[in-house]
Amino acid sequence: MKLVIGIVRPERANDVLEKLYRAEVRGLSMSRVQGHGGELDRVETYRGTTVQMGLSEKVRFEIAVSDSFVEKTIDAICEGARTGEVGDGKIFVVPLDRVVRIRTGETDTEAVTPLEANR
Ligand SMILES: Nc1ncnc2c1ncn2[C@@H]1O[C@H](COP(=O)(O)OP(=O)(O)OP(=O)(O)O)[C@@H](O)[C@H]1O
Ligand SMILES: [Mg+2]
Repeated sequence: MKLVIGIVRPERANDVLEKLYRAEVRGLSMSRVQGHGGELDRVETYRGTTVQMGLSEKVRFEIAVSDSFVEKTIDAICEGARTGEVGDGKIFVVPLDRVVRIRTGETDTEAVTPLEANR
């Protein structure tokens, strides 16, 4: 299992959701974050010009999936989020040790996408 973390432009978040839905990915979290992606802002001060790390609004997806769904999930995020301009975002794939569905006590791959395959 992996936790796929995708940080995308807020205006692309709905397209990412649609691509994930079409890829049959079910179960995710979204949050608003502020991020820095390397772009520097020039700031005018009375002593001249300095640069500062700019922060921009992004949406962070967290999606726990079985190994067989990792590539589909990454592809869906890329398809939904890409504009081709700098700042399109990034995807991090993190190993996931354990998942528990609280209602039933089901664990691990029984508790994450793909859902139907396990029933
Ligand atoms: N190394 C990183 N660690 C954690 N978060 C990051 C990292 N790089 C980017 N992010 C997050 O992703 C957001 C978008 O980053 P961004 O798309 O600018 O990445 P990039 O690597 O600079 O790619 P690009 O060249 O397309 O701009 C950032 O605002 C930040 O929230
Ligand atoms: Mg950047």
